[in-house]
Amino acid sequence: MKDNINPNNLPRHIAIIMDGNGRWARQHGQERIYGHQHGVESVRSVIEGCGEIGIKYLTLYAFSTENWNRPKEEVDALMTLLVKSIHNELEGLMKNRVRLQAIGNLQSLPAECQQELQAAIDATAPNNGLTTVLALSYSARWELTEMARKAALLASGRQLQPENITAETVASLLATANMPDPDILIRTGGECRVSNFLLWQIAYTELFFPNLMWPDFRKENLWQIILDYQSRERRFGKIGEHAPQ
Ligand code: FPP
Repeated sequence: MKDNINPNNLPRHIAIIMDGNGRWARQHGQERIYGHQHGVESVRSVIEGCGEIGIKYLTLYAFSTENWNRPKEEVDALMTLLVKSIHNELEGLMKNRVRLQAIGNLQSLPAECQQELQAAIDATAPNNGLTTVLALSYSARWELTEMARKAALLASGRQLQPENITAETVASLLATANMPDPDILIRTGGECRVSNFLLWQIAYTELFFPNLMWPDFRKENLWQIILDYQSRERRFGKIGEHAPQ
């Protein structure tokens, strides 16, 4: 299947809402955290799958602003899993030349999590393969609010003239500055919504909602989605190549 992917029409950036861990765990008669633990295997498979075909950017929604409202036990377990996974996966990330980055309100994460994350970001910074971005304590409304604050601050210091603000100015003040917009957004778990993820950046993104829980998702599922993507015609608001004149 991988061989059928056209290397000249690869998505530059793939974003994933990794949903369905809790339901998957229940289906297996286990606690929710069991699903999150298995979700890490899917993360590994997808990172490998992106690297194997030469994808440049992968953004994973690992913890949303709203996820803080889950029971403390689950939040704590997720943070512990995150610290452990980042630590355990570092060797594999280095081997695959993966550069790790993070977006979100990172200061709100527990100190240990911030330290482990920063250590992995620093260690992988020279890598030139896939850039994997973890969205942590992230939501698009948080990001857009931050953008408005930054713009207001720059304007009050006369470093930015309101009449000169363009779409490019906005993009440059977002957490994703310097990253291409996602070409593909995948949400597993069967729900068809975007749940406060990259709302500015997905204006022209192709959306995919595979009927799989995240712990069941593997690189082969990703490759199938990329094949589907390559068969879609993207028009960006213009008329299609085959439209009648
Ligand atoms: C959503 O499923 C999933 C999360 C809130 C957490 C995702 C985190 C991981 C897979 C671990 C990430 C680890 C690394 C290293 C990036 P859900 O709990 O909302 O599932 P449900 O909809 O079935 O309840």
